[in-house]
Amino acid sequence: MKEIKIAVLVSGGGTNLQALINAQGKVLKSGRIGLVLSDNPSAYALTRAKEAGIPCEAVNRKDYSSKEEFEGALIGRLTNCGAELIILAGFMRVLSEKFVKAFEGRIINVHPSLIPSFCGNGFYGLKVHEAALSYGVKITGATVHYVNEVTDGGKIILQKAVPVRESDTPETLQKRVMEKAEWIILPRAAELVCRKLLKTREVLK
Ligand code: GAR
Repeated sequence: MKEIKIAVLVSGGGTNLQALINAQGKVLKSGRIGLVLSDNPSAYALTRAKEAGIPCEAVNRKDYSSKEEFEGALIGRLTNCGAELIILAGFMRVLSEKFVKAFEGRIINVHPSLIPSFCGNGFYGLKVHEAALSYGVKITGATVHYVNEVTDGGKIILQKAVPVRESDTPETLQKRVMEKAEWIILPRAAELVCRKLLKTREVLK
């Protein structure tokens, strides 16, 4: 197979998932999405996956008594489908060291700021943009990075800057960062990592 099998983890609206779906066969040539998993059963991202004909499933944290059991369920599904790359696209849970080690070098995440600004525990979704506005930064952006055991601490793959406007609210800033940065760099970074993983696969043959 010439494509890397991608699994996407989501929690909400799934606009970044949509950007990946739209990029398949275009910017994203070396990978194909084979599974979408959501920790939130009512995530609109699941509808996007269904509409694109991609197998998807909700793995609800509430159905498990511990984080370890929940992650075990995720790992089971990811392993069964043969996922080679895991993309966190608006996945709002911090993964344990055990999970990260199980897929070392094979998990990437999109974050809505220029890391190392406005990142780490507690910085997710709109909160990131609220913090950027209250600090008064004039430039923000998005980052795609490898996931390691430190929240938002893995090596950076791609970044893109976006200007902040005087009139911005967290919502208008979020929209601009998504449109001008996240939806562009996430498919590009996915392609870069898939190409790299395909090379490793060839070496192992
Ligand atoms: C995106 O802005 C993503 O970068 C962010 O949540 C949003 C999800 O939107 N992720 C984080 O904050 C993770 N730390 P989406 O569901 O429409 O892709």
